[in-house]
Amino acid sequence: MTDDSHALSLSSTPPSPPAVATDGTWLACIECGETFAPFEAIRYTCDGCTGLLEVRYADVPTFADFSGRGVWRYNQALPLDSGVTSQEGDTPLYRVPRLEKSIGVAALRIKHEGMNPTGSFKDRGMTVGVAVARELGVERLACASTGNTSAALAAYGGRGGMETLVLLPAGKVAAGKIAQASLHGARILEVDGNFDTCLDIVQELAARGEVYLLNSLNPFRLEGQKTIGFEILEAFQAEYDAWPDRIVLPVGNAGNTSALYKAFRELVQAGALEPDDVPRLTGVQAEGAAPMVEAVETGASAVERWDEVETRATAIRIGNPVNAPKALPGIRETGGTAIAVSDEAITAAQRDLAEEGIGVEPASAASVAGLRKLREQGVVAADERVACLTTGHLLKDPDAAAAAGRDPEPAPADTDGILELLEDDSGLGQ
Ligand code: F0G
Repeated sequence: MTDDSHALSLSSTPPSPPAVATDGTWLACIECGETFAPFEAIRYTCDGCTGLLEVRYADVPTFADFSGRGVWRYNQALPLDSGVTSQEGDTPLYRVPRLEKSIGVAALRIKHEGMNPTGSFKDRGMTVGVAVARELGVERLACASTGNTSAALAAYGGRGGMETLVLLPAGKVAAGKIAQASLHGARILEVDGNFDTCLDIVQELAARGEVYLLNSLNPFRLEGQKTIGFEILEAFQAEYDAWPDRIVLPVGNAGNTSALYKAFRELVQAGALEPDDVPRLTGVQAEGAAPMVEAVETGASAVERWDEVETRATAIRIGNPVNAPKALPGIRETGGTAIAVSDEAITAAQRDLAEEGIGVEPASAASVAGLRKLREQGVVAADERVACLTTGHLLKDPDAAAAAGRDPEPAPADTDGILELLEDDSGLGQ
């Protein structure tokens, strides 16, 4: 049976459940519409056409249906009622008055996903993904990772009592992330290749039944990540009695872009959001790893893989955004765009955020760097209310933070010596 509503558009018609729906939930292929029961077998893509799968619900909830705290507050929009949780979600939406003024928009808020339990938004996906893994009865969880997914997988897998395996691109993962994966007990394999190669291998291992894959190709993970969108919309309603005009976010595999778009589509289906009110999804990549930006700029129907990628924002050092078929319609249908920023602009934005007291890793700062560039280009208007997503915490990448910040100074071990040093202001400034 197929699900006719497979095209990813902002339609107000909820899909009708196929016979395979369990408790009103099913998986649908976004390419051919084929449907599958959600938990009867392990699959990540369509059996027939290998298209990406998406979770669908017969009853899409509206805001009034949400209660409680964190990611599981939104359980009516999730495939399970509860998960393997560490109290993820409910992250701060910070005001940044100086940054708002210097960029020049009506309102700027920073949704700091670095404040999740393992320090990135991945926890929102893992609390759901690991719960589904438990439901499916699998024993060994795995992911390819630029670092944050591996940290979240190790922590949540550990919490769920499962074995975890992570494949990382050797020499290209920030220290904090490896430390997390290591201490939370993952088996860490450092591969002589980039992230995209690691993901190719993990997909192979999953296809051979060796591991359960928890990269964002896994449709259940993206369900958890939808909750970022719900939280931002609820917060803007509460404060401004309006929706944000735009959400700007860093893009790697484009999982978050896909997840936010899905949250908006479901709210439109539930009658909770008008299609015209959906925030413009705006993706930012580093210049050295910008295949999504290329596709948006050229109007291509698919993203072409970049084999060589490089950026200081190692979290988004990705040349093959696997969720592009879900994310490109999201950017286009919401009237958003995508832009590439230099590593220098990323570091400058990291400092700007740090001056406002918000500590983020380089990839996170890409959102703010992208917003500034789009505002300078006049693509973003002065009257817009914008939310920027900062996806990971400063401590994830201590080396990048130290390189971007002020150098410590050697100091004598006596008060007079310290006072002498303080009189000399040559150490001030960057
Ligand atoms: N920001 C950070 C800090 C990330 O770790 C990632 C992805 C992204 C942005 C991009 O998000 O893939 O949803 O577009 N990190 C993955 C990982 C690839 O392995 O930790 P996306």
